[in-house]
Amino acid sequence: SANQMWGGRFSTGVDAIMEAINASIDFDKRLARQDIEGSRAHAAMLAAQGILTDSDAEAIREGLLTVLSEIEGGKFTYSRALEDIHMNVEARLKEIVGEPAGRLHTARSRNDQVATDFKLWMRDQYDAAIAGIEALQKALLAQAEQGADWVMPGFTHLQTAQPVTWGHHMLAYVEMLGRDASRFRDGRTRMNESPLGAAALAGTSFPIDRHMTAAALGFDRPAANSLDAVSDRDFALEFLASASICAMHLSRLAEELVIWSSAQFRFVRMSDAFSTGSSIMPQKKNPDAAELIRAKIGRIMGAMVGLFTVMKGLPLTYSKDMQEDKEQAFDAADSLMLALAAMTGMIADLSANREELERAAASGFSTATDLADWLVRALNLPFRDAHHVTGSLVAMAEQKGCDLPDLTLPEMQSVHSGITEEVFGVLGVYNSVASRTSYGGTAPLRVREQISTWNERLE
Ligand code: ARG
Repeated sequence: SANQMWGGRFSTGVDAIMEAINASIDFDKRLARQDIEGSRAHAAMLAAQGILTDSDAEAIREGLLTVLSEIEGGKFTYSRALEDIHMNVEARLKEIVGEPAGRLHTARSRNDQVATDFKLWMRDQYDAAIAGIEALQKALLAQAEQGADWVMPGFTHLQTAQPVTWGHHMLAYVEMLGRDASRFRDGRTRMNESPLGAAALAGTSFPIDRHMTAAALGFDRPAANSLDAVSDRDFALEFLASASICAMHLSRLAEELVIWSSAQFRFVRMSDAFSTGSSIMPQKKNPDAAELIRAKIGRIMGAMVGLFTVMKGLPLTYSKDMQEDKEQAFDAADSLMLALAAMTGMIADLSANREELERAAASGFSTATDLADWLVRALNLPFRDAHHVTGSLVAMAEQKGCDLPDLTLPEMQSVHSGITEEVFGVLGVYNSVASRTSYGGTAPLRVREQISTWNERLE
């Protein structure tokens, strides 16, 4: 049988394999709402411009609403023979309203149509990502507020470095996520131009009003170049790049939760609601959600690399390769939203083990830098000499099997005679964090300032 869509030019239908490789309906049906929204804006514009009669436009409008309610009610039958969502919607519209349906595609191509639909869908994902990030920031802020002055070890190389505050550590992620959200906001502003009316690639001879459709669809303006409008997918790539960076941040936080919840660290306890057990080992409580979040970067960045690879050598303008943009973007967006939601739940439920954090903060000679700084301030030693003296004291403590505050004054004085009783004041972890009041530092005073700044920003 002749092709249902372009039977004029074709005398036979397509091979089954051709249909299988060509059809996108199995996944692009996710664009149904956007497709209908775009068609409604297009039809209204055609009528306003006198290209369609008001009665045809009205029939189309009513018909599209019927199609939408069928789709939303799960009563729509998708056909692979009709290739994609655009043809499926139009074919059903034809069944419902008859002849006017055939006039809807005046001054339009599936090329500007799919770019419009996909952009509308992506735009919602930009918004959802921003909302998801802000929810997670709020959960982290609540943790920071509760433990603004709790001490924990700060690490470099995963070796104890200096004591920091729990609040400060939580706020580090709030900052990262703040940049992630700003990347999505920025990308959304850049992408918000309407492709509709670019037609196949060159524009159209019909007197359309692209500003009208752009405004109706919430775009800031029509895209200025029709060739560009139908052929770029940078708005999806930018989302995927921003999503990859955000997923990388989530992955690092997830990794910390995995480490922190281990029996060896015991820094945090995860709620039962976000943990799993083992089918054989009864004692186990596994951080599966954290591990899955840690892994999502693989899919998300994979999608980014996948779409870059699809796009990189394509001559202008549209090529069917570009149909491969959607599954990548759908999967990455779903993965990001799920990872954000799961992390938000985990952080909200997380209980930090304050005593264990404090114990760990005080071990590993974490206040050695404070001691060196004291030698500089109190004895006016050059920092390099102070570093050397402190190093000898650490070696002594290590040999004795104790921590720095456990050394006696005479022992300390055997390394440097100028050391006085006063030194013990700087060896405690609470003194250590309280002293780090430089801008952006870990002192509870600074942490509380940052918390209130963020609370205001996230209002
Ligand atoms: N299903 C197609 C896609 O997703 C729609 C555009 C088809 N355009 C074309 N010239 N064949 O890209």
